[in-house]
Amino acid sequence: MSDIRDNPYLAHMHGGAEAAGGARGSEPNKAFAALVPGKTTAAQQEATEDSDCSGLTGRAFSQKYKSILAKRRELPVNKQRQKFLDLVHSNQFVVLVGETGSGKTTQIPQYMVLDMLPHVEGKMIACTQPRRVAATSVAQRVADEMDVKLGQEVGYSIRFEDCTSARTVLKYCTDGMLLREAMSDNMLSRYSAVILDEAHERTLNTDVLMSLMKNIAAQRLDIKIVVMSATLDSEKFQKYFNDAPLLTVPGRTYPVEIYYTPEPEADYLEAAIKTALQIHASEPEGDILLFLTGEEEIEEACRLLRARGDDLIRRANCGPLLVVPLYSTLPPAMQQKIFSKAPEPRTKGGAPGRKIVVSTNVAETSLTIDGIVYVVDPGFAKQKVYNPRVRVESLLVSPISRAAAQQRAGRAGRTRPGKCFRLYTEKSFNSDLIEQTYPEILRSNLGSIVLQLKKLGINDLVHLDLMDPCAPEVLMRALELLHYLGALDDDANLTPLGLAISEFPIDPQLAKMVVSAADYGCTNEALSIAAMLSVPNVFLRPREAQRAADMAKAEFAHMDGDHMTLLNVYHAFKSCADPTQWCWDNFLQYRSLKSADSIREQLRRIAANNEIPLVSNDFNSPDYYPQIRKALTAGFFMQVAHLERNGQYLTVKDNQLVLLHPSSVLERKPEWVAYNEFALTKRHYIRTVTEVKPEWLLDIAPHYYDLESFPPCEGKRILEKIALRNTIFREEQDMKKRRKDKKDRKDREGKDKKDKKDKDKKVKKDKEKRHRSKD
Ligand SMILES: Nc1ncnc2c1ncn2[C@@H]1O[C@H](COP(=O)(O)OP(=O)(O)O)[C@@H](O)[C@H]1O
Ligand SMILES: [Mg+2]
Repeated sequence: MSDIRDNPYLAHMHGGAEAAGGARGSEPNKAFAALVPGKTTAAQQEATEDSDCSGLTGRAFSQKYKSILAKRRELPVNKQRQKFLDLVHSNQFVVLVGETGSGKTTQIPQYMVLDMLPHVEGKMIACTQPRRVAATSVAQRVADEMDVKLGQEVGYSIRFEDCTSARTVLKYCTDGMLLREAMSDNMLSRYSAVILDEAHERTLNTDVLMSLMKNIAAQRLDIKIVVMSATLDSEKFQKYFNDAPLLTVPGRTYPVEIYYTPEPEADYLEAAIKTALQIHASEPEGDILLFLTGEEEIEEACRLLRARGDDLIRRANCGPLLVVPLYSTLPPAMQQKIFSKAPEPRTKGGAPGRKIVVSTNVAETSLTIDGIVYVVDPGFAKQKVYNPRVRVESLLVSPISRAAAQQRAGRAGRTRPGKCFRLYTEKSFNSDLIEQTYPEILRSNLGSIVLQLKKLGINDLVHLDLMDPCAPEVLMRALELLHYLGALDDDANLTPLGLAISEFPIDPQLAKMVVSAADYGCTNEALSIAAMLSVPNVFLRPREAQRAADMAKAEFAHMDGDHMTLLNVYHAFKSCADPTQWCWDNFLQYRSLKSADSIREQLRRIAANNEIPLVSNDFNSPDYYPQIRKALTAGFFMQVAHLERNGQYLTVKDNQLVLLHPSSVLERKPEWVAYNEFALTKRHYIRTVTEVKPEWLLDIAPHYYDLESFPPCEGKRILEKIALRNTIFREEQDMKKRRKDKKDRKDREGKDKKDKKDKDKKVKKDKEKRHRSKD
């Protein structure tokens, strides 16, 4: 039976015991009340955690809280709590390095809350994560650890999703979100401490944020900055942060045996599934973590593992399997499944069950899953690559680095000795994999970030204090893009249009489309398209029902192309009676559409706040769709391809040979198309494509389609013809106008003369009249 003293509603029944036995039940947390901001000790902090009720909420701690607390105390970082607090008290920057799973992400922010007392001081603690899924998942865990409801005292903020409230004292957010917040609050004045987690990932946003934090810290001596990572070139970070002190948390790891394949694997997915099932069939108890590259691949692997696993269980009498996927677009409830226990044996004493987690890179360091004993590492991850020469940024499945492979292997040795199966040869590990992945700033399109920095008032981008400076060519491309979009003027200063574009948390091209749509009377439609382009693919195409799925999609197809098709889908979604059923029937991803709807509302609010008129043209007008496509052109005129006579598309100016992606609804090949994405796989594809008119290009973006600076190609010759036609047409118009003006002038002169004559005549007549009357 549970102790009635644990029930706050029965507090009146044991008042006497309380007085004698110290704080119990709803007695306020005295230890908490005694904390002095910026001066707490580990013992004081632990005392408040050991109390019976929360200092933050005033509520009695639950049983669950207490059982988690016992586990938290065992974490390696807890042993370093005093050392950490000492360092934070005497330094503005602290660098902290600790093995994955040592408790950095979940514990350090809580120590900061107890030390800085944000609810008293009125300033929050922020902890940044490079990945959305890590931010949401860890926030949930820490809310549980602190015994509060997610979104109240502990919350998260990721793009298009804010789960915080006025009560929030600790916020987990993506690095991109904090950067965006800095645009409106340059000194991040709402925060007393910022914890930059997973710094070793060196994402573009983390790098820029680090430089920003350095700048802010120089002006705000009250702010504390903690930089955390699993593996880190710690000296480089310490030096960068003005010789910050380093705290190393010794990890708790077990040896991991590494196995390589003797020969390279032709099909890593197939090899991965085979390996995982082999482990299940022949290795002792312990869960499996399999690294793959993205949602589609992961779902496919899960499906195959379940099907073949069932077979294995039946034929070989293996234990039951729990197969769980993990990737960034998975809804939160599904994400939490990775923490479920392996299934029980089917019969008492039967073969033990096993959990297989199939995950993207997020399980490499961001999320720690206990109970993993076996790791299957095919050696690939999706990575951003950018080629400034042809201005193409793409997510590409690429080999991981040796450092990443080591991290992955380490996941197997968290609770006991484990095994890691690398699906590549040892030779390949030693000679093909690079030592460290290059920081993202060296392989990204910087358009969006440069715009944000401009908004922050940082004009001198070349001398920005970055850990690794960005490549001049990449920076130049970003400035050029923003200049063409009209976001920057000739002196590279932010224009009013640029300011409006920067308000939207989407790519500058997409934001330009929304902002310009007002000129074409179609902001409502542009907002819907922008929202639909900001969510994962809405069209489902299950392997066993591809034809049916294609037929369902064809119902929405618009002859102008994919953007208009997305618009059709969104409108149909908004007007159907039972959205879940309707999506199911039409092979559409309900989750994505629902999220598009919420994103649209957020974009709409931003547009309204920026006084962008929310308008639509008459749906029955023949101009309805052309106007929307013109707005699209206003944003995407730099992403246009021309169909050459040989039947192939060539991107304008960059002359890259591309194919329409097979997913496009376009059955014919329009001569000119604007595209949303350049997909770099074995072949070059352009994805999400809509027909545009060459005369619009000349009209809407004459500075970009300045034919003098155009490399020779068929498209150029056509544009030249149109430009010539335009010139002749304009000259003809001018001539006509001049003729008309001349005629008008003559007519007017003639009329003036006549008027004068008439007037003179009248005066003469009047004179004569007066004379006569005198007579
Ligand atoms: N959602 C969760 N459910 C259960 N346990 C969790 C969860 N998240 C974290 N943990 C536990 O907390 C420990 C510390 O995790 P974390 O703070 O993320 O470590 P680090 O950031 O150092 O890698 C993990 O080893 C795990 O035992
Ligand atoms: Mg962590």
